Amino acid sequence: MKLPIVKIGFPGLRRSCKPVEEAVWKNPKFAGFIKSMVQTMYGAQGVGLAANQVGVDLRAIVLECRASKRYPGSPHFPLQAYVNPRVVSASKKMDVDWEGCLSIPGYRGLVPRHQSLVVEAQRPDGTKLRRRVSGFEARVFQHEIDHINGFVYIDRMPDMKTLMHEGEMTRLAQAAQKKTKSR
Ligand code: NI
Repeated sequence: MKLPIVKIGFPGLRRSCKPVEEAVWKNPKFAGFIKSMVQTMYGAQGVGLAANQVGVDLRAIVLECRASKRYPGSPHFPLQAYVNPRVVSASKKMDVDWEGCLSIPGYRGLVPRHQSLVVEAQRPDGTKLRRRVSGFEARVFQHEIDHINGFVYIDRMPDMKTLMHEGEMTRLAQAAQKKTKSR
């Protein structure tokens, strides 16, 4: 079941979410909720989603980036669902790249993120895990963990002048392509 995604201004996006306790992950309804989060992310063509983006006050996130034939060089990582994720350590090295958010539709901005991370989390069934992630996957982790702590990517932008409407981004990309072709 696809769920409606709340937008910036919804108070629950600005609060730290509640930990997922044992009683929650043992409730069979919880697996169904995680499945709905995944369907919502797919439906919106997102690469990640946090529970408070569908109005649920819980520390749960899902993420996936599919390799695309249209963009063979694009980053990809498999479908993952976590509860109570936290960053254990982060690289000093930062990468700057474009980010957007399903709760702030239509915009992109340049955001610095740690290049790699060690993350501890639980699977939706409660089993614990620890993972090292890097690059685009680490970026999505930081974006989603920010969500469940009440932050959005624009809070992390050092220069708000890089905020762009997607329409303008497409226009600039098309203009750049034309320029290359005419050479
Ligand atoms: Ni987001």
